[in-house]
Amino acid sequence: MKRILILGSTGSIGRQTLDTVAAHPERLQVVGLAAGAQADVLVQQVREFKVSLVCLADAQAAAQAQAELPESIVLCGAEGLGQLIRDCGADLVVGAISGGAGLVPLVTALKLGMDVALANKEPLVMAGDLVMALADRHGARLLPVDSELSAIFQCLQGQPREGIERILLTASGGPFAKLPREQLAAVTAEQALNHPTWRMGRKVTIDSATLANKGFEVFETKWLFGVEFKQIEVVVHHQSIIHSLVEFQDSSVLAQLGLPDMRTPIQYALFYPERVKNTLPRLELPQVQSLTFAEPNTANFPCLQLARQAAEAGGGYPAVLNGADEAAVDLFLKGQIGFLDIPDRIERALNAFPGGSVRSIDDALAADEWGNKHVRGGEK
Ligand SMILES: NC(=O)c1ccc[n+]([C@@H]2O[C@H](COP(=O)([O-])OP(=O)(O)OC[C@H]3O[C@@H](n4cnc5c(N)ncnc54)[C@H](OP(=O)(O)O)[C@@H]3O)[C@@H](O)[C@H]2O)c1
Repeated sequence: MKRILILGSTGSIGRQTLDTVAAHPERLQVVGLAAGAQADVLVQQVREFKVSLVCLADAQAAAQAQAELPESIVLCGAEGLGQLIRDCGADLVVGAISGGAGLVPLVTALKLGMDVALANKEPLVMAGDLVMALADRHGARLLPVDSELSAIFQCLQGQPREGIERILLTASGGPFAKLPREQLAAVTAEQALNHPTWRMGRKVTIDSATLANKGFEVFETKWLFGVEFKQIEVVVHHQSIIHSLVEFQDSSVLAQLGLPDMRTPIQYALFYPERVKNTLPRLELPQVQSLTFAEPNTANFPCLQLARQAAEAGGGYPAVLNGADEAAVDLFLKGQIGFLDIPDRIERALNAFPGGSVRSIDDALAADEWGNKHVRGGEK
């Protein structure tokens, strides 16, 4: 029986992880859950999966959940989250918190030598080298959950890393891939949240529409697989059937295919390296008919290029990128800025950043905060 702790259990990845656990009750057991503020959802999850130790970031939500769950311990806030990670006795932590809030709990788990199935990509943007060094030092494994990263991970099984020539990250292109630039200025949050192939949390859905998400995956790829940024290319593939590809030095290209269903990469990470039978819908290629590919449109969606610039600049720039994006997406979702203001605000933050290195997690958090504040300061 593998004991699982889910960080971000009330979100899209968290819920699909619980679906996966429910499909394999003889192999997987939930020993801890953490979320932000959705007390009602957490209470229902605790009852269904019989979890005795949980945490909510929001104090009021934690008090509500505790009142409804007298048999369980409901911890609260960042301190409570640290205690949950230390005390729940998990064999595997699922990192499914959204945004930079996932960095500190990830670091806590890695310092305890715990394996992490990681969906939460932002910590690798903010402090990828530090996170990988911690995993290495404490003998913890980072298993990718993100579908593109899982695809690369699967293609690399049994392959020598030095044989990699290029990694091709596929991108759906988001809901506005075919929209002329002049119409992009007026798109609403509601339209942006209507992703053509994936059902995801709000922040990652907007990041997919701007291509910032693909920029973040460039960081994830670099750190998880130890390649150079210049070896990572992005190709738009609207059908989201090929989840990514690896080209080797002998010109062979391996790809991983499947329906766009996060339960497949989640299950792979939970059981890695085992392939466990499930009842998920199967890919039927005649029904797909055609697979298309195109270059990303970086003129309409500059966030991918901004991510590459931050990667090249290094130091605190990637964390500034992350904080600036998080703030800009939040303002867009609240209707306070337009869609094209997202890359604009991020670019302005990157240009204004005075620079500075990131030698510690605190440095990364400070640069992230700087980016966030810069964007919010520009609020009209
Ligand atoms: N969804 C996907 O298909 C997908 C695919 C690949 C990668 N990812 C990545 O996976 C991560 C999660 O995405 P998602 O779509 O599942 O997001 P989501 O639906 O917005 O869920 C986020 C989860 O994090 C929790 N949370 C937020 N702040 C927290 C805090 N301070 N402490 C503890 N928990 C906190 C939320 O709790 P409350 O809701 O209770 O406040 C919720 O459970 C993101 O980094 C995303 O980029 C997602």
